[in-house]
Amino acid sequence: MFSKKTIKDINLDNKRILLSVDYNVPGDSRGAVTSDARIKASVPTIDYLLDHKCSITIISHRGRPEGKVVSEYSLEAVAPILSKLLDKQVRFIDDCIGEEVQIAKQQLRSGEILLLENTRFHSGEESDDLDFAKQLADNEDFFVQEAFGNAHRKHASMDAVTHFLPSVAGLLFENEVDTITNVMNKPTRPLMAIIGGAKIADKIEILNKFIEIADFIAIGGAMANIFLLAEGIDVAKSMVSLDDLPLAKQILAKAKARAEKGNFTFYLPQDSVVASKIDKTAQTRIVDWSTHVVSDIESYPALPPKSSQQLKKDEMILDIGPFSGAFIAGAMQLIGTVVWNGTMGITETAGLQGPIGPFAHGSELIIEAMLGEFGHRPFSLVGGGDTAGYLEQRNISDAFNHVSTGGGASLELMAGRGLPGLSALEDKNKGVQ
Ligand code: ADP
Ligand code: 3PG
Ligand code: MG
Repeated sequence: MFSKKTIKDINLDNKRILLSVDYNVPGDSRGAVTSDARIKASVPTIDYLLDHKCSITIISHRGRPEGKVVSEYSLEAVAPILSKLLDKQVRFIDDCIGEEVQIAKQQLRSGEILLLENTRFHSGEESDDLDFAKQLADNEDFFVQEAFGNAHRKHASMDAVTHFLPSVAGLLFENEVDTITNVMNKPTRPLMAIIGGAKIADKIEILNKFIEIADFIAIGGAMANIFLLAEGIDVAKSMVSLDDLPLAKQILAKAKARAEKGNFTFYLPQDSVVASKIDKTAQTRIVDWSTHVVSDIESYPALPPKSSQQLKKDEMILDIGPFSGAFIAGAMQLIGTVVWNGTMGITETAGLQGPIGPFAHGSELIIEAMLGEFGHRPFSLVGGGDTAGYLEQRNISDAFNHVSTGGGASLELMAGRGLPGLSALEDKNKGVQ
């Protein structure tokens, strides 16, 4: 049971609401939004507030602009999308604090919506600055927290702002926390965690916890690169951060120790799709890391050439290979619950023809297996802004048991860690405001 107050626990009629959302939506280099999944997810709470005749000021971050104005991370592109979803005018202001914002808030009437610019354009957001938070809270009556995807960040719009306003959760936030907590409290076993994507520094440490709670861990995406490197494989131009190498080695050692005790698998890709450019016209090939299954078959009866087991200097790993995809999909036939966060490869590169890009086949295979295409269908919990965005783009989100808007946040919650954005909210049993 959700232990924090929500918008349903307080009287919000005609109040001025500061609404925090996670509109950290995927976009192209010009800032155009490529998936509106996170925007759609905020609509029920906005509708609820409108039904209660509130005026609403919306704040969010987008990308990692590090305290500076970076146009590709502007939230301006979100305003027309939100406006269309709500069938209502959404006014955008190109800052989230300052005089123009305060005047606009004072003039905002019941039923009107203001969308403010990216909070991370100010350094006070990430430093959880009280003065910055106070300016966010000025001219508001209540704070509603709906940014579940950002709940693992102790930032001003998640934490410090709650010092200045009575603070409650929105509908999405409550549903995410409840659903994920319920599944993870008593998952149908065996439990498989598939972890990919690109936010390595954020997610790698959580693997330590998953080694304790999961029965099968499969690694894909850029996350796999650091482990392949730790295993002595030259990953050439692949996305990798050497800072994570000692931790990757520790995690591998811990995983191997648990696997030796039995009934646990830590699976690194055995083959990968590689190319020397990230483009739909890129020539791709498959490299076999350990089993040489694909290249053995291709070269039979001769031995496979060395190049089929190594990256060239200018090549990058951009997806898991077909053998690895098939192995994970096969193992999934025995699995009760799958939690998946982070795509297996680059999913943003469009294909030459059809909906599937050249580096998205690994993710597609995982999707098919999760949805029971090969016979057995496990309970499926998917997370991550980019992962959920891809499912939305493929129009298949509804087919999963739960698609979380959170990436790092949902992993932290699954691993039983506290979320600063959650703990900052008022407890349900505290006296009614
Ligand atoms: P999520 O938003 O789902 O939590 P992340 O933000 O961690 O996931 O990572 C998603 C990103 O990872 C996608 O933009 C995808 O292009 C990228 N990605 C996946 N595999 C690779 C890879 N092998 N090399 C580079 N980027 C990758
Ligand atoms: C996410 O997409 O995981 C959240 O919006 C948090 O973004 P961040 O990883 O840049 O803090
Ligand atoms: Mg992401």
